Amino acid sequence: MTGDVSALDGRVVVVGGGIAGLATALRLAPRPVVVVSKGPLGAEGSTNWAQGGLAAAVGDGDDAEQHAIDTLAAGDGLCDEEVVRRFARAAPAAIEQLAAWGARFDRDAEGRLELGQEAAHRRRRVVHAEGDGSGREVMRALTAAVRRTLSITALEGAAARRLLVEDGKIRGVVVTGANESAAIATDAVVLATGGVGGLYDVSTNPLGSFGQGLALAARAGAALADLEFVQFHPTALQAATRPAPLITEAVRGEGAILVDDAGERFMADIPGREMAARDVVARAIWRRRRAGRRVFLDARAIGARFGSRFPSVSAICARHGVDPTRDLIPVRPAEHYHMGGIVVDQTGRSSIDGLWACGEVACTGLHGANRLASNSLTEAVVFAGWVADDVASATATRAAPVRRRFSDAAPDPAGARRALSAAAGVERDAEGLRAGIRALLPLADGDESGADPAAVAMMICVAALRREESRGAHARVDFPGKAQAPARQTVTLAEALCSARELAFTANFRKA
Ligand code: SIN
Repeated sequence: MTGDVSALDGRVVVVGGGIAGLATALRLAPRPVVVVSKGPLGAEGSTNWAQGGLAAAVGDGDDAEQHAIDTLAAGDGLCDEEVVRRFARAAPAAIEQLAAWGARFDRDAEGRLELGQEAAHRRRRVVHAEGDGSGREVMRALTAAVRRTLSITALEGAAARRLLVEDGKIRGVVVTGANESAAIATDAVVLATGGVGGLYDVSTNPLGSFGQGLALAARAGAALADLEFVQFHPTALQAATRPAPLITEAVRGEGAILVDDAGERFMADIPGREMAARDVVARAIWRRRRAGRRVFLDARAIGARFGSRFPSVSAICARHGVDPTRDLIPVRPAEHYHMGGIVVDQTGRSSIDGLWACGEVACTGLHGANRLASNSLTEAVVFAGWVADDVASATATRAAPVRRRFSDAAPDPAGARRALSAAAGVERDAEGLRAGIRALLPLADGDESGADPAAVAMMICVAALRREESRGAHARVDFPGKAQAPARQTVTLAEALCSARELAFTANFRKA
């Protein structure tokens, strides 16, 4: 980011350069839009790393209702059924839209989309590209389309630091470049900043995704929901590299099985076996490893086809000295996706006038307690259209002038990582969550560079402590059963801080 940003006043500001941000900007064309992207367009965010693909009922014999049924089953009682059904009906058009923007999906000799199989889908339903390079291909196409679209201005190398809100309405957004901060006056901001993986020690997300959008919205007073539901991917490669390299679930879809170092196929008696819902498989691996065993994916039965179907996984394995056609692949669970986020309605509107959210940072009600594999990229494209329609129809008011220069330190997630990873991992309990909250509160309450990441991490722990049951991706060892009448939980930063202070006060009082 260089130069004066005042020329951008009055435009819609989309924060985030992944699939959700770029698709929203494209759907808003020809309305002038600014995309704020931390890195060069196309290089930012988790989308590039996505291997599996996009779920949509486009195969013979499939339909939206079957896609909806699988999504609801994975969501374990907490999905918004209306959102799920509307999403499933819109999903095939999202694939067509991406193809129209230039995404080249894998097709058979007759030109029909090839479909992959992933866990908890009862049929092949996952559209993919370059085998397991789906995210990379989608981002290539979107970036090229954005570069061709004159109504979109990309602020590359810039990050949003604060939302400016007056009388409950968005008035602007503070953006920071290499060494300057300035405000863009606007009455429409779309947050598309991705997930929270950078807040965890082990995650498949890029380190730069550490909940900045959640912090922006929470500090502005927006309601967040379902924060306790953090999805752990069962099969990241056991390696010291960050992010943890993903071994796509589609490998299990093609027949790979899980074994431990004693050669036992420990999923054999669990319903669904290796293709059970992601939380079930992640917990089984977690428990094996906690019992001191190592866990491996045995993909040898796939044979010589492995290299052409999974070129990215093959390259990852080769870099780590593993040949999947001959060797077992060492795996471990890793944080992968956040079901929780900024509460939005079916148009992507948040609880703050002028603030929309799209993609992983949003909580639309689609995923409930556990996201169905490959629903996230599809959700981003489907909601991008709905958000764009709503932003375009919102009455444009002239954005009020805002103070122009700001100084604000870059947020640093390092201080929050250890506490969140220990407290809110694959399995949680009250004691660990309380310890996490007590460790995070002083950071979250302060104004140092760790404050925003700590505030998000603390809100996740507060939500996880409040949910006294095990459901979907939220597994409480002290509450292993399910509540009779589950409900979604909404929380604001003010409420979470209040709970955390009360908890810290009670702990200090007991000590004294
Ligand atoms: C995978 O390829 O296993 C991940 C897909 C997803 O997270 O939806």
